[in-house]
Amino acid sequence: MATAGDHCPSQAKGTEAICRLGPGGQDLVHLDARLGLLRGLLLDPIFNSQKPPLYHPWRSKVFVQGVEDVQGMPDCYLRGSMASQAVQLRQSSSSRPPLPVINLGRLSKDPATRALVIQDIARACREQGCFQVVNHGVSKSVMKGALEAASEFFELSPEHKELFASTDIRRPIRYDTSSRDGISKARSFLKHYANPLEDWVQYWPMHPPSYRQKMGEYAVEIQRVSMQLMDAILQGLGLRPLCMQEKLEKGVQFLALNNYPQLSHRGDKIGLASHSDYGFLTILLQSSPGLEVMPHGDDAWKSVPVIPGALHVHIGDHLEVLSNGQFKSLVHRAVLNPDEARISIASIHGLAKDEKVCCADELVDEENPEMYRESSFQDFLDFLPSNINNYKRFVESLKINRA
Ligand code: OGA
Ligand code: NI
Repeated sequence: MATAGDHCPSQAKGTEAICRLGPGGQDLVHLDARLGLLRGLLLDPIFNSQKPPLYHPWRSKVFVQGVEDVQGMPDCYLRGSMASQAVQLRQSSSSRPPLPVINLGRLSKDPATRALVIQDIARACREQGCFQVVNHGVSKSVMKGALEAASEFFELSPEHKELFASTDIRRPIRYDTSSRDGISKARSFLKHYANPLEDWVQYWPMHPPSYRQKMGEYAVEIQRVSMQLMDAILQGLGLRPLCMQEKLEKGVQFLALNNYPQLSHRGDKIGLASHSDYGFLTILLQSSPGLEVMPHGDDAWKSVPVIPGALHVHIGDHLEVLSNGQFKSLVHRAVLNPDEARISIASIHGLAKDEKVCCADELVDEENPEMYRESSFQDFLDFLPSNINNYKRFVESLKINRA
């Protein structure tokens, strides 16, 4: 195993908000992106004279309220002073658009709306490599429960955690700390498989006692979201999603629970060094800011804001291969949060261990020759041990040299 609406959200209250009018929808990504930026701003200390809400989201009421609001979120945006602050910030910090936020609930609306969302997802994948999703159907209590379970696991005594300690990446469950791999600078983690749940839950921790139930509920829900996203992504690529559905249902899901210390005055700020993930998609939940991404074509790190109730999604190496390079896997890292210790849960989704992933036939032609060799998750496991310390990305090893 790889180591192993109708009203605006609460954050908008007290500001001038208008709901989007007209059929348009063409600019959903940018509209959604603006919404994301504004949410980011509203959580951003620069625009708040007081500190942002006390972020122990898995314990905090603020988080619960936020999730409720986001679950029924309308497409709306702000105008007035907040909007001009947003524009100023965007112009000053990056020439690129902010990270998109996509309302997944719109996928199950009428066909025309669904087609627009699929277009938005495809654009986000092509231009940025990542986006956040809201209205994804994962309940606030399930998300909170998973963060709680992870947090309680990491708070256990060393003896409990050492039961799972291993450097063998083929173990079904594995606990480790930064001391033992080249990419973890300051983190401890627990990694285990999760799909199908009945095959893997037996390996999961018995402590904290609620771990299996809470993490199990979360895993099942996230697997469902991943299937929904893959369906939209494959359609966005012009592929037939039905051909892949069964393989995806049986595919690998593994969870990486990451625990990072608070940034200390003298310490290095990197928690997890720059990398890309091997699978098709990674869906990540973070307790507080710390995830940084390098969108395609950028040479600067961008912090992923914590939008209460949202899930971050990014592209992995195998989707780059499947799409024959149309969607590039996202380079990302985790930095330590100066205010508090941080927890994240990354759920990585791909095909079953021995199932090969190659460039989709429909995306290969004379003008677009096959750019990657086929490979499986097993091949990634074989690649990893000798490359973990030299930061070589798996996808680089798959590129076909046509020079
Ligand atoms: C990972 C990962 C980022 C984070 O586990 O692969 O990239 O914010 N985590 O913890
Ligand atoms: Ni990662």
